[in-house]
Amino acid sequence: MDRSAPLPPLDPLAAAQTRAAAPLPSDAAGLQAATQELCAWAEAAAHAAEDETALRAARDAWLGRKGGVLARLKQNWLAAAPPPRKRDAGQAYNTVAQAAESALAAAANELAGRSAARRLADERVDISLPARRAPFGPAHPVLAILRRMTDIFLRLGYSVAEGPEIETAYYNFEALNIPAHHPARASQDTLYMDAGPGAPELLLRTHTSPVQIRAMRQAAPPLRVIAPGKVYRNDAPDATHSPMFHQLEGLAVDEHITLRDLKGALDHFAQEMFGAGGAGERNVRTRFRPSYFPFTEPSAEMDVGCLFCRGAGCRACKQSGWIEVLGCGMVHPALFRAVGYDPERWTGFAFGMGVERIAMLAYGVDDIQRFYSGDLRFLSQFPD
Ligand code: DAH
Repeated sequence: MDRSAPLPPLDPLAAAQTRAAAPLPSDAAGLQAATQELCAWAEAAAHAAEDETALRAARDAWLGRKGGVLARLKQNWLAAAPPPRKRDAGQAYNTVAQAAESALAAAANELAGRSAARRLADERVDISLPARRAPFGPAHPVLAILRRMTDIFLRLGYSVAEGPEIETAYYNFEALNIPAHHPARASQDTLYMDAGPGAPELLLRTHTSPVQIRAMRQAAPPLRVIAPGKVYRNDAPDATHSPMFHQLEGLAVDEHITLRDLKGALDHFAQEMFGAGGAGERNVRTRFRPSYFPFTEPSAEMDVGCLFCRGAGCRACKQSGWIEVLGCGMVHPALFRAVGYDPERWTGFAFGMGVERIAMLAYGVDDIQRFYSGDLRFLSQFPD
C-alpha cells in the first residue's frame, strides 16, 4: 500500500452504516467510543448536505425506517443486546438518535435560512441605478410651427375652431361662393366619396376655408377664429406639393372691419413669425398684391421680403426679392348671406396659409417631402 497517498476523505454515512451493521460493542468503553463516533458522523452528514435534495437523502439514510442507520442500530444494538446490557445499549441508541435528529433539524433550518437570503439577494432591486432613458422626441416641425402660428393669433384674441376633414361639397365649395362648374373647383380636385343616393356629396376638404362657414353658423358675430388642420388635393408629390398638407385659416367678423385691420393683423403675424427682433420691432417687409378668391372681395396675396437674400434676389424668391406666404381678403357678402349674418351690418377679413410652406420658410427647408419622410435625422433637427 502506498502510504504517501492521502487517505480518501471519510464518508461519514458509509462509516456510520458500517458501524450500525456491526454488532453491539462488547464492552462499555467500546460502546461509548462507538456512540461518540456515530454522533460525530451524524453531525458531519447533516452538515455536508448542500441543498434540500442532499439533506433529504441524509435524512433517509439516517432516519429511514428500513435500512436507516438508526433502524439498524435498533436492531443490532438494542434488539440483540443481552438483558444485562439492554440499558446501556438503550442509552447509547438514544444519544445517537437525538444527535442525528437535532443535527438534521439544524441543517434543515440553516438551509431554509440560506435559501431565503439567496432569494432576497436575487430579488434585490438597485434603486440607485439610473433608469434606461426613453428617448423623448421633439414635436414634428410642422406641428411645432403650427403651434407657433396658433400662439400668435391666440395672443391677438382669436380662438381655435375645427371642422371635419371629410367635408360636404356644400361647405367646401358652394357656401364659399364656388358654385358647381366654377373653375376654382378644377384647381382644387380631391377625392369624392359616394355616400349613397340622396346623401350630400362628400369629399376630402381641399382647404380649411369651410371652417369659416361652420364657425359662423355656430356663433353670432363678432367673431375671431383660426382653424388649423389637414387638407387634401389631387396633386402629385414634388418639392412643393403634397396630396395632404396643413393649412391655417383665419376669420375676423365685426362692425367696421376694414382692409386696414386685415393688413395690420397679417403684418403683425409676419413680424412675429419671421422677425428677428424683439416685441414691436418691424424688420420683416410685407406687401399685399391684388388677387382673386371667390370667397373674398377684394382679395390679396401677402408676400414677405425674401428671408434668405433679404430682398437682393436669390433662387428661393426667383430673383424677385419677395416670397408669397398667404391668401387673404375681405369676406364676400355671399358668405354672410349663406350663414344668416346681415351683410349690411357686418364686415370681416379672412386669410389662409399653408403650414408646411411657412415651416419651409422659417427653417430654410427646400423640399416639402422631407416633412413626411419619417427620417429622424431630419425631423429631430428642429426646436419645438
Ligand atoms: N382657401 C384658400 C386656398 O386654399 C386660401 C385662402 C385664400 C383662404 C384667401 C382664405 C382667404 O380665407 O381669404 O387656396
